[in-house]
Amino acid sequence: MSSKQPYKLHIEPGVVYSWCSCGFSATEPLCDGSHRTETENKRSVKFQSDNAKDVMLCMCKHTKNPPYCDGSHNQFE
Ligand code: FES
Repeated sequence: MSSKQPYKLHIEPGVVYSWCSCGFSATEPLCDGSHRTETENKRSVKFQSDNAKDVMLCMCKHTKNPPYCDGSHNQFE
């Protein structure tokens, strides 16, 4: 678990982002490719938007709606 709190990220329209699902990325919450060497079955999750906006990304890696925070981190507080 990288953090028990979500991370607010401003995203731009048309840009494809890649959320880290493994927790080993040095650029959390975004993927840096570490899952390829640190895990066997984790992959990044691609996401994008048609609009510029702020999104809350999961940092605890327990969300049921990746890459977005769904409040699952509250179970750890
Ligand atoms: S940080 Fe909120 S569900 Fe993971």
